[in-house]
Amino acid sequence: MEKKHQKILILDFGGQYSQLIARRVRECNVYCELKPYKMPVEEIKEGGYNGIIFSGGPNSTYDENAPKCDKALFELGIPVLGICYGAQLMAQTLGGEVTSSDVREYGKTEVEFNTSSLMFHRAKDKSICWMSHTDRISRVPHGFKITGISESCPVAAMEDIKRNFFGVQFHPEVNHTEEGMLYIKNFLYNACGCTADWQMSSFVEDTIAKLKKQIGDKKVFCALSGGVDSSVAAVLVHKAVGKQLTCVFVDHGLLRKDEGDNVETVFKKQFDMNLIRVNAQERFLTALKGVSDPNEKRKIIGEEFIRVFEDEAKKLGKIDFLCQGTIYPDVVESGIGDAAAIKPHHNVGGLPENIGFEGIIEPLRYLFKDEVRKAGLELGIPEFLVWRQPFPGPGLAIRIIGDITEEKLATLREADAIMREEFAENNLDRTTHQYFTVLTNVHSVGVMGDGRTYDCTVALRAVTTDDFMTADWARIPYDVLERISNRIINEVNGVNRVVYDITSKPPATIEWE
Ligand code: XMP
Repeated sequence: MEKKHQKILILDFGGQYSQLIARRVRECNVYCELKPYKMPVEEIKEGGYNGIIFSGGPNSTYDENAPKCDKALFELGIPVLGICYGAQLMAQTLGGEVTSSDVREYGKTEVEFNTSSLMFHRAKDKSICWMSHTDRISRVPHGFKITGISESCPVAAMEDIKRNFFGVQFHPEVNHTEEGMLYIKNFLYNACGCTADWQMSSFVEDTIAKLKKQIGDKKVFCALSGGVDSSVAAVLVHKAVGKQLTCVFVDHGLLRKDEGDNVETVFKKQFDMNLIRVNAQERFLTALKGVSDPNEKRKIIGEEFIRVFEDEAKKLGKIDFLCQGTIYPDVVESGIGDAAAIKPHHNVGGLPENIGFEGIIEPLRYLFKDEVRKAGLELGIPEFLVWRQPFPGPGLAIRIIGDITEEKLATLREADAIMREEFAENNLDRTTHQYFTVLTNVHSVGVMGDGRTYDCTVALRAVTTDDFMTADWARIPYDVLERISNRIINEVNGVNRVVYDITSKPPATIEWE
């Protein structure tokens, strides 16, 4: 029988820390789901949640278009914690008062707590909390007690212990709030009655059971890229329905050294999956012949991908479900207005729109990247795949400046393999978020032995980043850089100069094209 796990619902009112709240709850070993604030009360009731957290949000509760919550939600008998805007909304909805202000309280603030309250049980009676608000609660609703105050905030925290409602004006999920995790734990364990028993193994077990039920005896199709997300998603589905899953892996000839073979070995040999490897190297190289413009390259590769998938889908006949490795940040990010499109990213590796299927299966929809990795390890996927750094859909095509030839690809593959080996050897591979080599189209003069050379320049790129939207160049020790440089010059034909890219993003991007 499917085991029922405790879970928390986080209603997102548009706050910048909503994802972080979800993370913290998971760090307390309690499963949670983040949903838009508009989620209907009926659905919440049926969801079987043990507690609800209202996130913060940018609005004033008085704004005409401010997101509201249904009062009926407070009649479900489920404990609720409101954070910042969420606390104000709770106060206003339950008959308290929120006052608008022009002055913003922002930053680290000392808050004094009533430690006989539930939420601040065992906490210090005074500690630093992170504030970021303009409006404030000026009168708590009937039944509530004030449990925290700060110099400029008469209600920094409040609770109604009978109904299990809690509100905090500050952000317990942010690291700057000294005892934030303790407050969250008090809410989860003491108010919601959750036990800290959610682990990756439970997620894996549950998901496989759910997938079995959802898929039944139908057929699933998955476009496997060899990246961690699609790999973990595919293995989960495979564990649930075995050969009812067909994975298609397109080798476009723009992969790194041995990558295609490794993917094939893992999924065919280790997992005995129904995997079709499409060797489309020639098709892609022909289409790319003589093309130098980066966006033109992306466009061609994107279109070829779609054609290859179309051909494969035709061969497979009717597909019931499409499995995708969508992870939690993809879901959340796509809900927020997009920043200016610098590069037409996710156009590559896309599937044709006219593939007919009944539904989409996204088993990782609520996981963060590090959780996806944990799930991957739990499922027995080898570390090199689980820890694979992000690799762009167009592959090495956008790491060769100018037109693409077999010869250039071979040169770049060798140089890249050396950089990766050295990063692994020097334990830099897990702390540097992305690192690779670029084959520039610069030729320069060199001397090797007694002769003059006029060969290619390889650039090394390595960055650290949280979200790939901004990035800093990685401070790689000189001796590692030296070794990589020496090895590339000695071991890779046609390269006589190696440079290190010390540009952050912005102004540069991570890739060179
Ligand atoms: P940039 O170069 O824009 O890269 O700073 C940010 C992240 O996106 C990856 N990237 C791509 N991924 N198709 C992809 O699937 C693309 O066309 C593409 N261009 C860049 C890049 O590797 C980095 O992780």
